[in-house]
Amino acid sequence: MNKATVTEIRKQFEKALEEVRDTAALEALKHGYLGRKGIIAGLFAGIREVPPESRKETGELLNSLKTDLSAAIDARSMQFAVPRKQKEITDFSMPGYAMHHGSRHPLTQAVDDMLNIFQHLGFDIAYGPEVETDWYNFESLNFPPDHPARDMQDTFYTEGGGVLRTHTSPVQTRYMSTHKPPVRIVAPGRVFRNEAISARSYCLFHQIEGLYIDEGITFADLKGTIELFCRLYYGKDVRIKFRGSYFPFTEPSAEIDVSCFLCGGKGCPVCKQSGWLEIMGCGMVDPNVLKAVNYDSERYSGYAFGLGIERMLMMRLGINDIRILFENDVEFLKQF
Ligand code: DAH
Repeated sequence: MNKATVTEIRKQFEKALEEVRDTAALEALKHGYLGRKGIIAGLFAGIREVPPESRKETGELLNSLKTDLSAAIDARSMQFAVPRKQKEITDFSMPGYAMHHGSRHPLTQAVDDMLNIFQHLGFDIAYGPEVETDWYNFESLNFPPDHPARDMQDTFYTEGGGVLRTHTSPVQTRYMSTHKPPVRIVAPGRVFRNEAISARSYCLFHQIEGLYIDEGITFADLKGTIELFCRLYYGKDVRIKFRGSYFPFTEPSAEIDVSCFLCGGKGCPVCKQSGWLEIMGCGMVDPNVLKAVNYDSERYSGYAFGLGIERMLMMRLGINDIRILFENDVEFLKQF
């Protein structure tokens, strides 16, 4: 072995290195030259045959060859190096992301709670359309065409001569036209009135209508049912009061007041110092309404009631502006 051999091997290596295209080939080259049984190791083993006086020089030559080759291989391997992704760090002590849960709107909750009570009392749930005919909304309910009582309800009319129902009472006659007595239903839904929008009134609101028709139903049944409902909804200490009133579709008619749940009846700003809050209208179904749906008004009698959800809820939550129930302000709704 002499200087020429080393120069030749260096040249071969450089040529081979140039042809390397990937990490695997580079590894193979490295193994072939610098491995334990590689070419360089072979050359070192051959030093024994070199005459003693040139051994030192040959050794140095081989050492620098080895150093250069491995430097060249390292430099080339840098070109193949794939930048590693920074390792993802999981810090289990970090606070989690807050999940925002939706919830039922307070109006929906109130309606569901009330329907639940009525269902336990044996009432079925019925629904009617929001766009009604004049007949169902008024005429069938004993409002003749020019009856002044129509003025009690500011009506939105549709182009085709329909009306946006002004109350849930048309569900009474709708239901009765397709069902034979006995009938025991509650009908929740939206109603519409063409009123100036203010803190006290909105162009739409929610009602629950009740209707019970059978043989021998009396005002006492109405009173018992309403009393029980109020106790279950407001609590057992609530007192209720029937006040004579007028509705075209009931005779006799009444409005119901409950003792103010805020002050217990002592008088406060919510009940305007009266101790009482009005919550619904009710009465014995007028025979004319039964006749309108071909029920035998001699044989059947019954009661009806209608309650306004927003009013009850406003009193309950201590809200003094009805509009907040329709604005979908998340900060308000989050409380429920
Ligand atoms: N429909 C009436 C209203 O919106 C409320 C009402 C009163 C309903 C008496 C009834 C009832 O069923 O018997 O003003």
